[in-house]
Amino acid sequence: MEQSFKRFQGKVALITGSGSGIGRAIALRLAQEGANVAVGDVNEQGVQETARMVSELGRTAYACTCDVGNPQETDAMVAAALEKLGKIDILVNNAGTGDTNAFYEDIDLPLWDRIYAINVRGPFFLAKAIAKHMIENGVKGRIINIASTEGKTNRGGSIVYASSKGALLALTQGLALQLGPFDITVNAVCPGLIDTPIWHRADKLMEMPEGGAIQMVVQMAIDGRQLKIARGGVPDDIANTVAFLASDEASYITSQAINVCGGLEVH
Ligand SMILES: NC(=O)c1ccc[n+]([C@@H]2O[C@H](COP(=O)([O-])OP(=O)(O)OC[C@H]3O[C@@H](n4cnc5c(N)ncnc54)[C@H](O)[C@@H]3O)[C@@H](O)[C@H]2O)c1
Repeated sequence: MEQSFKRFQGKVALITGSGSGIGRAIALRLAQEGANVAVGDVNEQGVQETARMVSELGRTAYACTCDVGNPQETDAMVAAALEKLGKIDILVNNAGTGDTNAFYEDIDLPLWDRIYAINVRGPFFLAKAIAKHMIENGVKGRIINIASTEGKTNRGGSIVYASSKGALLALTQGLALQLGPFDITVNAVCPGLIDTPIWHRADKLMEMPEGGAIQMVVQMAIDGRQLKIARGGVPDDIANTVAFLASDEASYITSQAINVCGGLEVH
């Protein structure tokens, strides 16, 4: 999608978990609209592929294999992105893991710590490092955290994942309060049921055909009249909202948690 007016011309974005799904769609959308992007993911092949797709759009991409749960790796990613792309205007904390619907008795410390390291601790320390850079360089930045409707209403019953996304929402509000005086906005986007590889991994666990798990959950939500728009979401639904929040048009929007979920969540 080539656009004559490019909202992110001259801007640089760093997007975590951008080797597939929602993160890749965000990287491509921001690049289509003029941004150079740093893309990070634990999946080296995926992140290299995203960088290649960004380059095909005529933008500069820096690909980094990085586990957001590992502070040394995230520090190195930020330093390298700044060196290669010169600055960071937009941080999208998208990497997340939700591979647990464990019964409460089966939740142990390693599981808890791993999910919180990726979904909460990593996003905070990335925001801390990049906010410092933004403040020192007078960048009126944007920080966007990809949370979940599960962080507001726990429909799926996961304890660790949903609570970590709730923590990410509280973290968003705290950062928004402290970074507002520097003209840095901090918002969250809460996806509902979005067809991405996260669900396709569930197919295997549930021994269902490709795409079966998301189809089943979406149909249940339509039948139960929880989904007001009778379809599952696609990664571009989230990328559209992230692009708006990252743009100049959203300069008076901060500390919000915006649902993109076909009406599944109403608060
Ligand atoms: N798909 C949905 O229905 C849905 C709903 C609500 C929230 N979300 C959130 O959206 C975000 C993106 O998920 P998605 O649906 O695109 O899934 P996905 O599995 O396609 O993408 C997640 C990406 O994050 C990467 N990743 C995982 N752990 C990482 C780590 N420690 N460090 C760096 N990268 C890591 C994965 O390799 C993958 O490329 C996640 O935060 C997820 O919780 C998704």
